[in-house]
Amino acid sequence: MTAVADKAWPYPRWIAHRGAGKLAPENTLAAFRLGASHGYRMFECDVKLSADGMPFLLHDATLDRTSNGQGLAAQLSWDELSRLDAGSWHSPAYAGEPLASLEAVAHYCLANTLALNIEIKPTPGSESLTGTVVANAAARLWAEAPTGAIPIPPPLLSSFQPAALEAARAAQSHLPRALLLDALQTGWLETTLRLGCVAVVGKHTQWDAVSVQQAQSAGLKVLSYTANEASAVDRLWSLGTDGIITDRVDLFSPAC
Ligand code: G3P
Ligand code: MG
Repeated sequence: MTAVADKAWPYPRWIAHRGAGKLAPENTLAAFRLGASHGYRMFECDVKLSADGMPFLLHDATLDRTSNGQGLAAQLSWDELSRLDAGSWHSPAYAGEPLASLEAVAHYCLANTLALNIEIKPTPGSESLTGTVVANAAARLWAEAPTGAIPIPPPLLSSFQPAALEAARAAQSHLPRALLLDALQTGWLETTLRLGCVAVVGKHTQWDAVSVQQAQSAGLKVLSYTANEASAVDRLWSLGTDGIITDRVDLFSPAC
C-alpha cells in the first residue's frame, strides 16, 4: 500500500506520534530524525506558546517531565526555553537535545518532504490565542514550501479544543483541520462538521463499523491515536479507517 493518498487527502496513512513515540525524546528534532530513519513520512507533534508567543513543541503544560526545566512552560520566554535540555530525561544519548520551535520543525519537514500534523495543545486558558498564532505561523512557514516534483501537503491542524480550531479557522481558513476526540461524546459528528474539519481523530479503541461509517459518509477522514499493537492496527485497517498515529515506528513499517 502506497503511503500517499489522493489529492483530496494528500497524507500518508502512517503518522509517527511525537516524532518517534517513546524511542527518542518526544517532540524534539532528534525524534523526527529517528522516525524518518524508520521510513515515516508524516509526524504528529504538540505545539503550544511561550510567554512571548513563540510556537514550540511540548506535550505537557509543565516542563518537568520532559526537560530539565520546572513549572509552566508558558511562563518562560522562547529565549529561556531554548536553553533547556529536553533530552537527558529520556536517555544519556540525547543529553543536550533542545526543545524544538515550530519554525525549526517546519524547516526540517519542508527540507525533507515530510508531512506534519500539528496538534494545537494550548496551555489551559490560551485556547483561542494558541489556535490563531499556530495557524498564522503554519501558513507563513508552509508558504515557503518548495514547489518541486514532490508536492508537500499543508500541515494538518488538530486539537481537542474546539476553541483552538475555531480560532485557527478564523485566522487561516485554508489550512485543513481535524477534531481530536477522547470519547465519542454526544454530538461529536456535528461538532466536527461545524468546525469545518476534514478529519476526525479518535482514540483507536472507540471506532467501530457504525461510527467509522457515520464519519466517512459525512465526508470526513477517520484517523486514530495511538495504536501500538498489531491487533489494534489490523482492526483499524479492516474498519477502513484512513490513518494511524503510532508510537511504534520500530514495529510498523509505513510502506505497508
Ligand atoms: O494527536 C494525537 C495524540 O497525540 C493526542 O493525544 O495526549 O498524545 O497529545 P496526546
Ligand atoms: Mg499529541
